Amino acid sequence: MVKKQAIQWIVNQDTDVLNGIAAGIVFRVLVDILHPVIGFATGSTPVGLYQDLVQNSRANPKLLERWQHVIGFNLDEYVGLPENHPQSYHHYMWENIYQFLPVLPQHIYIPKVTGDLEVNCRTYDDTLANYGRQDLQILGIGKNGHIGFNEPAGNLVLNTHVTPLSEATRRANARFFDTMDEVPMRAITMGMGGILRAKRILLLAFGNEKREALLQAFSGTIGTECPASFLQLHANVTILTDQDMTAIF
Ligand code: GLP
Repeated sequence: MVKKQAIQWIVNQDTDVLNGIAAGIVFRVLVDILHPVIGFATGSTPVGLYQDLVQNSRANPKLLERWQHVIGFNLDEYVGLPENHPQSYHHYMWENIYQFLPVLPQHIYIPKVTGDLEVNCRTYDDTLANYGRQDLQILGIGKNGHIGFNEPAGNLVLNTHVTPLSEATRRANARFFDTMDEVPMRAITMGMGGILRAKRILLLAFGNEKREALLQAFSGTIGTECPASFLQLHANVTILTDQDMTAIF
């Protein structure tokens, strides 16, 4: 059967296998590019990939050394949580990956959510633009088809911006907080342009709860009510999933 898009699908029921393949792709970028610009995602899905990256880097001095040259950009950050809050994405990144690797803090960028948020958004885009664009963007996907915190809406936003979080997303992320009231109402997220400008995109989608979002996003139609559907316009997307996707191949 002719595939509907240029997307590369890697389907395997074992998420350890998928994480290993994803780590291999990250390591290729790390080795091939002198100063690799890597876009990082948060959420529960990439945790296994980050463990794999840490473990294999620490077992291989040549790989470990390469992390000094990495320029890291995160997709998003909650507004209203201090950096040291256990659920902030700053905390997540240092906890899950950066503390174990010789990254240089001055090369690590995560949207700043204190001070003038509009200025922070512009600075974030300018900084990324100075580096060019991401050599590789790691992505997860929300159950409602969001990427980063680009939520389903009548219009999507090109650049980094402050966004309200949808009720669906707040409910989905409530599992990380003691009460729903503690889940932030807003976030700063890289916009659709910043994501789609990446040279290569690696999307991880694990678990049955992501199946509907994948089916909708990669069905062959594109719409702002499913932000991930815009990935179909990108020339170099690899999706790693444990879900049976034969319905759309
Ligand atoms: C979060 C993040 C996204 C992430 C998504 C899925 O809220 N902003 O970057 O991809 O939702 O998260 P999880 O992997 O925990 O399902």
